[in-house]
Amino acid sequence: MTTPRLKPTELKAGDLLLRPFLPADEPAIAVALTDPQILRWTAGNAVVQLPAAQRAKGWLEPRLRAWTLGNAVFAVADLASGDLLGSVTLRDVHRVPDQAVAAYWVTPAARGRRVAARALDAAARWAFGPQSADGLGLHRISLDHALVNEGSCRVATAAGFQLEGVMREYYVELSGRRHDSHLHARLATDPGLQVRA
Ligand SMILES: CC(C)(COP(=O)(O)OP(=O)(O)OC[C@H]1O[C@@H](n2cnc3c(N)ncnc32)[C@H](O)[C@@H]1OP(=O)(O)O)[C@@H](O)C(=O)NCCC(=O)NCCS
Repeated sequence: MTTPRLKPTELKAGDLLLRPFLPADEPAIAVALTDPQILRWTAGNAVVQLPAAQRAKGWLEPRLRAWTLGNAVFAVADLASGDLLGSVTLRDVHRVPDQAVAAYWVTPAARGRRVAARALDAAARWAFGPQSADGLGLHRISLDHALVNEGSCRVATAAGFQLEGVMREYYVELSGRRHDSHLHARLATDPGLQVRA
């Protein structure tokens, strides 16, 4: 199957704006990538291995091209101020037909506002929409998190991603430490839910 080129998309969700990343986001990404939790759980070992001063560019550059390669990578910004609050990604769109894999992070300064669950819910609703209405026509979106990452589990559940099981020793830290991970997924046909603001 050929990689689908995705149309860069903006979504609004309450006080949040989901939009493609821009080169101008690099300074805010540099700040985000000083957070030990983002580095540990979601930045990716290729980025973590770079010298600290190069991490923001190393993280951002592939994401500026991501939409052409079948990955819907959203910056999550405060709608009023424009401040970068985090990121939600639906990657590998249609690599398995009708499916994608989600990931997310929120800057330490923006935590406590349920930004990740609200943004993930908005991205999922868009992705489940029909392609004729500029959605992605997906049926299933999955995600995983290390069992010890309880905050991520709360985000997944709050955004309607049901727990499906445990993947043994799935996540490997740069140190080589392995973690059992929860597999969660949301289906287009799951009953509607209201994500608390
Ligand atoms: C996980 C993360 C995205 C959540 O950020 P957020 O959207 O600001 O989430 P909030 O702080 O609003 O918390 C959401 C819920 O999780 C709970 N929570 C947050 N951190 C928690 C923790 N360490 N342990 C247990 N519960 C936690 C909150 O109490 C809240 O619960 P509630 O909705 O019942 O009130 C953020 O902590 C983060 O970026 N972590 C590092 C990157 C990461 O782990 N990404 C996921 C990789 S799988």
